[in-house]
Amino acid sequence: MSAIRIAMLNMKGGVGKTTLAVNLAWHLFKAGKHRVLLIDLDPQFNASQYLMDYESYANHVATQGTIATLLIDQPDLAIKKKKSKKSIKSSIVKIDEGDQGSVFDFLPSQLALAHVVKNPAQMDYKLEKLIEPVQDNYDYIIIDCAPTDSVLTTMALNASNFILAPMRPDRFSVLGFANLIDTVNRFRDNASNPNNVRELGIVFTQVRGDSSVETECMKNVRKEAGRSSFYVFDSELGFSNTFIRAVQDQTPVFETKWARDDLKDNVNAIVDELKNRISELLQDSEEE
Ligand SMILES: Nc1ncnc2c1ncn2[C@@H]1O[C@H](COP(=O)(O)OP(=O)(O)OP(=O)(O)O)[C@@H](O)[C@H]1O
Ligand SMILES: [Mg+2]
Repeated sequence: MSAIRIAMLNMKGGVGKTTLAVNLAWHLFKAGKHRVLLIDLDPQFNASQYLMDYESYANHVATQGTIATLLIDQPDLAIKKKKSKKSIKSSIVKIDEGDQGSVFDFLPSQLALAHVVKNPAQMDYKLEKLIEPVQDNYDYIIIDCAPTDSVLTTMALNASNFILAPMRPDRFSVLGFANLIDTVNRFRDNASNPNNVRELGIVFTQVRGDSSVETECMKNVRKEAGRSSFYVFDSELGFSNTFIRAVQDQTPVFETKWARDDLKDNVNAIVDELKNRISELLQDSEEE
């Protein structure tokens, strides 16, 4: 069966897309024993910085290439491997391997990916084509998107069958929700098969749980989401310095010494709800 492909999307920056993408991927691999591929589709390459130390990243960029090398034909992006043929497999890094065939693979990014944004011609379906040869090798493919709406977003949505939108419960993020809806609607207006990608919903992240402003923001999002038939996850990710520490130490949050059990439970609950949502939506589309 072909992989479940999830785009982590929100036009608002800094809401926790990358942190959740990396930790979901790690969790699905480690606890769920799934075969997971995480794709960094952001020229900021934060997921790459989270998962790879500087030396191995620099070496990988030079010899194996990144998502940018695969998408862009530019001499200055030529990788140094002799007779190298551009293929997604050769640019994938194995982060970890487990029992029952479980694997955590990663396709890194680099700043040069911004070239795609400046030269968007013929790019819309390129990511979809790129992952086609490997998508049966995985249970989940998670795409970490950039916060700006560009051809990278179109590529991610064309390559995905689900959208997950992390959101911080503050006023700017709530106002940014309209941009997310706009982006998805505009994509659908122009897509050849607009219903190929479905909304899994919004997951609140960095929830502090100690202020009425936050509660108010979350209430407003639920109201707005209801109007646009956007699902809002019951489970949420709490705010914790452990996430910042996990990024610093390049570990999944559930493996940090500092992770409180409730944070680990947060990630467990999000994964459980995510899986339920996916089966519900897949069942719905079978019945349609
Ligand atoms: N649950 C959390 N608790 C505390 N800090 C968090 C949490 N999630 C993310 N952060 C921190 O918030 C910052 C932004 O997170 P992240 O980079 O994941 O957001 P993003 O949406 O991917 O940003 P961008 O739009 O720039 O790609 C980072 O410093 C990260 O460590
Ligand atoms: Mg990010």
